[in-house]
Amino acid sequence: MAVLPIVTAPDPVLKKKAEQVPEVNDDIKALLSDMAETMYAAKGIGLAAPQVGVSLRVIVVDVDQDDRGAEGKLYKMVNPEIIWSSDEIKSYQEGCLSLPDQYEDVERPAEVTLKYLDETGKKEEMKVSGLLGICIQHEIDHLNGTLFVDHLGSVKRRMILEKLKKEKKKLARQKKDG
Ligand code: NI
Repeated sequence: MAVLPIVTAPDPVLKKKAEQVPEVNDDIKALLSDMAETMYAAKGIGLAAPQVGVSLRVIVVDVDQDDRGAEGKLYKMVNPEIIWSSDEIKSYQEGCLSLPDQYEDVERPAEVTLKYLDETGKKEEMKVSGLLGICIQHEIDHLNGTLFVDHLGSVKRRMILEKLKKEKKKLARQKKDG
């Protein structure tokens, strides 16, 4: 297992549609484990493969971990797909490990049904709502090249992305100087 570096916006891999996984083999199992370890180390509640630079349809989610990062209920999902969404919409303040320190209210369906393969390759179907539902929708968005800021108005989105671009440049300069 290994903690992987997390890609932050703007980066082309975060805007790319990720590929379907043809088979849940040992490489995918290792990726899922590394992604879980990376998520816990970063104190995130979800992580999608493009966020570690891998353009495959793989996500990990755990909304029940405690604040010291101890494992709660960990979901490892391959090729997750939403097959039903409620008409009811809910708003929740979201953040993202790829958009450091940015938090905005995002509206999403309150409840969704999804299908996915678990880490043994078994087909699963699940109805989710609440924070788990929001988090899974956010992670599936990543697989389609969508960030939570893409759900916001264009002015707000541009402001956040410009801020992150500047931060990135600053960090790169500091690295060069240091
Ligand atoms: Ni995210």
